[in-house]
Amino acid sequence: MTEPFSPALLLQQVLDTFEATPDPRLREIMQAAVRHLHAFAREVGLETDERRAGVQFLTAVGQISDEVRQECEMLSDTLGLSSLVETSSTPDGATLRTLTGPFYAPGSPPREYGASMVERDDGDPPAVISGRITGAGGAPIAGATLDVWQNASNRLYAIQDPEQPRFNLRGIYRSGADGRYELRTIKPVSYTIPDDGPVGKMLESTGRHPWRAAHVHFLVQADGFLPLTTEIFDADSDYLDSDAVFGVAPELILDFSRGEDGVHRTTFDIMLRAA
Ligand SMILES: [Fe+2]
Repeated sequence: MTEPFSPALLLQQVLDTFEATPDPRLREIMQAAVRHLHAFAREVGLETDERRAGVQFLTAVGQISDEVRQECEMLSDTLGLSSLVETSSTPDGATLRTLTGPFYAPGSPPREYGASMVERDDGDPPAVISGRITGAGGAPIAGATLDVWQNASNRLYAIQDPEQPRFNLRGIYRSGADGRYELRTIKPVSYTIPDDGPVGKMLESTGRHPWRAAHVHFLVQADGFLPLTTEIFDADSDYLDSDAVFGVAPELILDFSRGEDGVHRTTFDIMLRAA
């Protein structure tokens, strides 16, 4: 080594160590990550104690995480990374993909067409969500599964809240021969993402709030089509302009209009892209 030290030389040395990575995609990702990380540190003039604070922050994010408390996922969500990756991977002509978030749990029970997924009556305004699932050309998709999950009006999902029945506001519905589906639930309610950990501290110290606009999550799957994870938002909700995880897109904001029978109804048509 004859050249005197420079940041550029250091960067090149690090990049070179990844040159022999057998998987070319992993090589591309690691080298780009290192380039951006070095550029970030140089841009802000990152100091020793600041780098150390960053390491402590990431350590805390890892330490509080478990299967239910997905702090790493929340960090990705609150930095807009999840939303960027999901929306960018939406196939042409399909319904917009959004982040899954930290509260999806597999294993929800199957429910009949039009059945309610409310397993504990908290006196909340009832809502019916219905629509058609089609391919890009408009042909109905029969037998698609819609895995749906939503928080209760105490702001918690059933997987976070031992007081709720395990499958409250969770269910797997199927589209009929005409591609139609229908489910009964409650009008969605805003909630705060868990903010008692390091991500919450990050939000607080940067003057941000932890609220999500009121929404319902969907994971839609059908044979021969790409799976779709998305959300719908209540047009009445607060925080549509400042969702803590950047999940809101105008095309996913729907009116949950209240009928004379007191039931709020909305229509959400879903377009899948062939695999
Ligand atoms: Fe959610």
